[in-house]
Amino acid sequence: MGTATVDDADLLALYDAATYRTGAPHAAIDRLRAAGPVVRVPEPAVGGWPAGPGYWAVLGHAETKEVLLDAARFSSHLGGTQLRDPARPEDLAFVREMMLNQDPPEHTRLRGLLSKAFTPRAVARIGDGIVARARHLVAAVADRGRCDLVADVVADLPVAVLAEILGVPEQDRGLLYDWSNRVIGYQDADYAASDTFDPERGTDMARAALSQRPRPGPDGTLPDPRSRDGLADLYAYAHALADHKRAEPGDDIMSLLLQASYQGTMVTNAEFETLFFLFAVAGNETLRNGIPGGMLTLIEHPEQYRLLQDRPDLLGRAVEEMLRYWPPVIHFRRTATVDTEVAGTPIAAGDKVAVYHLAANRDPAVFPDPHRFDVTRDPNDHVSFGFGPHFCLGAHLARLQMRSMVSEILGQLGRLELDGEPVRLM
Ligand code: HEM
Repeated sequence: MGTATVDDADLLALYDAATYRTGAPHAAIDRLRAAGPVVRVPEPAVGGWPAGPGYWAVLGHAETKEVLLDAARFSSHLGGTQLRDPARPEDLAFVREMMLNQDPPEHTRLRGLLSKAFTPRAVARIGDGIVARARHLVAAVADRGRCDLVADVVADLPVAVLAEILGVPEQDRGLLYDWSNRVIGYQDADYAASDTFDPERGTDMARAALSQRPRPGPDGTLPDPRSRDGLADLYAYAHALADHKRAEPGDDIMSLLLQASYQGTMVTNAEFETLFFLFAVAGNETLRNGIPGGMLTLIEHPEQYRLLQDRPDLLGRAVEEMLRYWPPVIHFRRTATVDTEVAGTPIAAGDKVAVYHLAANRDPAVFPDPHRFDVTRDPNDHVSFGFGPHFCLGAHLARLQMRSMVSEILGQLGRLELDGEPVRLM
């Protein structure tokens, strides 16, 4: 425990999503961490969200790893992995069907099945496509002089990669974009109502699924997209896709998954649907945030930008540093299963515990001069892809997408400049 005292304004800055609109609250985090690597955060009602019971924020690197590694003490299943509690018991039951929100042995079984589907051959095939697609996307804006980096260049790459993993036909890919917006942007009205897909261009599966698109209720709001009602069209589509792939398997990862067996069990249609949902969200917004975030960081550090231009051999390290400095995932939640303690702080069974990747990545105990963006940093033990049993399943493909995109941007466009203040999602 440190000797500094905890300031309520710093706790609110850490907790309130509105803070992040203007940037991550690193100064507040540093002051809080100086008081101790685990702090108690109240959850007052903010931004239309009801008050919550409060939670423990884990801000140290070692403590983050400790919590993430120990599923027996810190469960993903008990309360799910989102900081805000699901609104209704049935919504908690719904998120618990997803591997992200499971503990061993259920979680171990699904990881085992997926490891049979993510074969080196299947992953390598997707990897080849990533390099070519990044080149093509950057080339399409190269002569323009100005563009929206997120919408015009970056956004298509993760959607295309996910569509390949999931075996979604080319003409239905826009659906993935809308679904991901709906889930990730649920705190932001414009994103939550995302509706860019043209059914006329989609397959029959897409049209049938869209007939189940959730409609606003009497109060004009859409059902919570973290519930099954809020994603009825996604589930209908995933169901039809699973039937189609069982009948006519392709060489995509989801077709391999449907044929895989682990200790004599196979994936059920219900499990496939929730995996489809998890992938559609996990592999999309993370990169749509991480690549522009990394480029913005480079622009804000011109000497590092120049260094990377002069030394393309630093690309791998630069991408790791971008991920450390601008983690696309800010925090994940666990729930204590027993009375326990972390770094001497007592935590009661049932308490919410949130690890902040954002804070762990700048822990001075592990990263010398942690606020310095340094594309030569090595070693770089950031936790942006998590740690332990839930370590990101897409980390390899995510790194490849970031490296390919950054390399093409530097190679084809050279030096980027801001054409206005970036607007952040809340
Ligand atoms: C820069 C991009 C990405 C970041 C920062 C990221 C981050 C994370 C993190 C922190 C977790 C751990 C969650 C936890 O501890 O509860 C995770 C899990 C996961 N990620 Fe990623 N991710 C990225 C890209 C991707 C991609 C491209 C895919 C799919 C191809 C993907 C699929 C998954 C899945 C399926 C899980 C759940 C694993 C499990 O529960 O065992 N992610 N990711």
